[in-house]
Amino acid sequence: MNIAIVGSGYVGLVTGVCLSHIGHHVICVDNNPDKIKSLRKGEIPIYEPGLEELMHACMKKKRLTFTTSIKDACQKSLVIFLALPTPPRANGDADLTYIENVSREIALHMDSYKLIVEKSTVPAQTGKKIIRTIQLNLPKKFKKGNKILLDFDVASNPEFLKEGSAVSDFMNPDRVVFGVESKKAEKILREIYQPLKAKILVTNTASSEMIKHASNSFLATKISFINAVAQMCDMVGADVLKVAEGMGLDKRIGRQFLDAGIGYGGSCFPKDVDSFIRLSEKSGYDFSLLKEVRRINEKQLDSFLHLVEEKLWNLKDKTIGVWGLAFKPNTDDMRNAASLEIIAKLKADGAKVKAYDPKSMANAASMLKGVTLCDDPYSAAEDTDALLIVTEWPEFKDVNFIQVRDSMRQAVIFDGRNMLDADQLKKLGFDYFGIGRGRL
Ligand code: UDX
Ligand code: UDX
Repeated sequence: MNIAIVGSGYVGLVTGVCLSHIGHHVICVDNNPDKIKSLRKGEIPIYEPGLEELMHACMKKKRLTFTTSIKDACQKSLVIFLALPTPPRANGDADLTYIENVSREIALHMDSYKLIVEKSTVPAQTGKKIIRTIQLNLPKKFKKGNKILLDFDVASNPEFLKEGSAVSDFMNPDRVVFGVESKKAEKILREIYQPLKAKILVTNTASSEMIKHASNSFLATKISFINAVAQMCDMVGADVLKVAEGMGLDKRIGRQFLDAGIGYGGSCFPKDVDSFIRLSEKSGYDFSLLKEVRRINEKQLDSFLHLVEEKLWNLKDKTIGVWGLAFKPNTDDMRNAASLEIIAKLKADGAKVKAYDPKSMANAASMLKGVTLCDDPYSAAEDTDALLIVTEWPEFKDVNFIQVRDSMRQAVIFDGRNMLDADQLKKLGFDYFGIGRGRL
């Protein structure tokens, strides 16, 4: 199948490479010429485990190319996936300008049947708006009055990829959802995904758009729920790790997404929860549960910072080490990362900040000013008054904590992700503070 992917970011690039890997001819499109130039050289602009190797293999087989031209990609492809940014506006609405502009451009260059597929998270009803945009902008030769003479379909095929494990999530999905309005669109999508032998669910476009919204919001709700439980654990002397384990053993609940910490971040959950709240408001339903999910998430970070202040007293002129800058492990992505807010607050309070992340140092150099960026975890901890664990990179578990302890001014660790062995660290002489571990 000849497929174009418009938008070659975290989502588009993974989708394009993986579709090429399972046998399709894929053209990845992006309006950033520098990005396309590097991709053509085989250079990958993001860190995603396994992606680079797969991309090189697909390029070698000549099944994966890159272009800035929507026209070119459109004319060579039967299916066009949209993996474009849908950033939040100030009022929480998803900004769909990129989707509209690209849909218009596709319409101008369509010369035969095309299936246009939404991959980006979009509010329900966006499919209808894309159809309208294409109809309005098709060349005159394909219109007779209000009658459209060129057959095309718009479908929704939401991505459920988690950054850091996106390639394996793509290859082994729990489910693949097709939101379609025609048998033809369903048949094409089935053919595309056939090699994955995945569980497929077919719905109409609006239900598929809703599945994506509801799934991300539900996962965010699970996180806020356990974070609220963590607050209670601190008050009653319980340990949230044991509580999550006990809850998770119930198959109806499940252990995943019950990790208490400093809350969810990234380019999806915060934006998608906001946009679902807006969609509900516009539809006339007050989804107050989700507003609380968002409030708990914001409070979680505040209470972590409050704990740091309470234990260290004045932050002015103290030096704080930060381990982990990415919004989660195994990615270099710092969009909406907790580290940004934490570091801004520490600096505003007059603290000096030293930081280290295994993969995000290039992003950190452009996104963080006035922070000492370190080459390894040891130098980020040296001469500090406290160490903050902000992202749970597995390699932090293997650090020599005796060396860390002896190099710090005060041996204090605030573990925002509950990733370290509290008992072990206490035995070594650290003051250790986790989240919901039973501070009475
Ligand atoms: C994006 C959205 O943020 C997310 O909501 C959606 O679900 C999927 O797409 P992501 O891939 O992480 O996620 O975004 P990003 O890494 O910013 O990639 C978007 C790419 O689109 C960028 O490379 C950008 O240059 C490109 N782009 C943007 C275009 O090619 N054309 C445009 O008009 C705008
Ligand atoms: C999410 C969805 O999981 C994915 O299905 C969708 O396609 C895109 O959005 P992503 O944002 O890449 O994926 O990562 P995810 O693993 O879901 O983590 C999101 C945030 O939640 C991170 O900040 C993470 O640290 C946090 N999180 C996750 C918790 O705080 N606790 C948990 O138990 C799980």
